[in-house]
Amino acid sequence: MIRISPERISEMRNSRSSRILITGATGFLGSHLAVELLRKGYRVLLLVRPLKNLSAGERAERLLNWFEADEIDFANLRVIQGNLEDPLLGLDPQTYGDVASEVDEIIHCASATSFSERKRALVEKSNVANLRNFLAFAARSRCSFFHYVSTAYAAGKRQGRCPEEMTEAREFTNVYEETKHIAERLAKNTCDEEGIRLNIYRPSIVYGNSRNGRTFRFNAIYYPLRTMFMLKEVYDRDIRENGGDRARAMGIFIDEKGRLHLPIRLETLPYGGINLIPVDFFVEAFLSIMEEAVEGGIFHIVNPRLKPLKDLAEYAERFLGVKGIEAVPPGTFSTFPRNGLETLFENCVGAYGPYMKDERVFESAGSDAILRKRGITCPEFDYPTFSRCLKYAVETDWGKNLGNKEERRTSSIQHRMEENKTGPTWPRRMG
Ligand SMILES: NC(=O)c1ccc[n+]([C@@H]2O[C@H](COP(=O)([O-])OP(=O)(O)OC[C@H]3O[C@@H](n4cnc5c(N)ncnc54)[C@H](OP(=O)(O)O)[C@@H]3O)[C@@H](O)[C@H]2O)c1
Repeated sequence: MIRISPERISEMRNSRSSRILITGATGFLGSHLAVELLRKGYRVLLLVRPLKNLSAGERAERLLNWFEADEIDFANLRVIQGNLEDPLLGLDPQTYGDVASEVDEIIHCASATSFSERKRALVEKSNVANLRNFLAFAARSRCSFFHYVSTAYAAGKRQGRCPEEMTEAREFTNVYEETKHIAERLAKNTCDEEGIRLNIYRPSIVYGNSRNGRTFRFNAIYYPLRTMFMLKEVYDRDIRENGGDRARAMGIFIDEKGRLHLPIRLETLPYGGINLIPVDFFVEAFLSIMEEAVEGGIFHIVNPRLKPLKDLAEYAERFLGVKGIEAVPPGTFSTFPRNGLETLFENCVGAYGPYMKDERVFESAGSDAILRKRGITCPEFDYPTFSRCLKYAVETDWGKNLGNKEERRTSSIQHRMEENKTGPTWPRRMG
């Protein structure tokens, strides 16, 4: 028996009386969703775990600093210190029950995103066992809607067209894909049993904001680019300061125009490329689907155009001011094996390889219909966007320099959050 009608869900959202609990709000996608919902006037509750010497509340403050989200109404924000590893989410039984009785909708973004087999136990725990705990909370709560952030790659190694529906997959590229696939089923089973509507959102690979290049996560597409950037720095210095023996051994030299020649070939497929979407598009698409698809469903949030590796190689050369990075046809390495530099590069970024030469089509008729209606299209990952994102990455030293800026703004935000800590029942456990 479905808990609430779609009309009532829309009504509660339109009047902003719905209370939406978000997990993973200290992460990349969860934080962007949380801030946008707050900007739109929604009432938002964040479940955040403490980190080192920072409480959940302090972590939320830092986040709002980074977003420069001064305009939001802090009275709409509650932060609960908790942890999904615990069956009671790290709350005492009374608080667990109180929060459950207040929540109208849930957005679940918390996840482990490592591809590493060495981290299998942690990824399984985070994506499956923790989800079980959280679904038990959803069942106990009065929530009418569960929004599960999955991934387009929950399809596993399936080839060809990947539909916007639950599909069987037996082979996976890594533990991340495998556990996201299992998690979708778990979410579906519980939501079906409990009468909770479920939206499953399947984004492809998300990079920073297409308009200003900002992000605070530098994994996924940033990782191979960062590796190239570091290789350039190391071997450039070796040539200029240490005689260049190490560079020569790798086939690296400075050409007649003074540019570093960094011989890195990237094997691709004839129609292959990488499916990239910017985080601003993800947020717009997510919120549109959330607002329109009140019956529930499965939605791919993807780019209709794969970015060919050839273009990315050219952008990387241009941005770094180097030569030698090139996309090559499949099978090249069996005829002309990898050089030392390519072996080193492969060791660092091999886990991303399958995503860089993907030929699959993620069907998106369901999400397209909604996005078309709202005039939303996925921006092109062209050179200006690429360089904006990379410039921000380099300026912030791939995220290392973000902390200082956050520190500077903390006191004013902290002051404003103090002013608005008014909720009579929430937040009982604000950090
Ligand atoms: N980023 C992408 O390109 C991409 C693409 C497709 C799909 N997705 C999906 O989008 C979702 C979010 O990904 P993301 O890139 O935003 O990941 P992320 O930046 O790594 O964030 C993961 C979040 O999960 C939280 N979390 C993990 N374990 C927790 C626990 N035990 N208790 C409470 N919180 C916990 C983390 O909290 P801490 O800060 O405390 O660690 C963090 O806030 C994931 O489901 C992922 O599969 C992401």
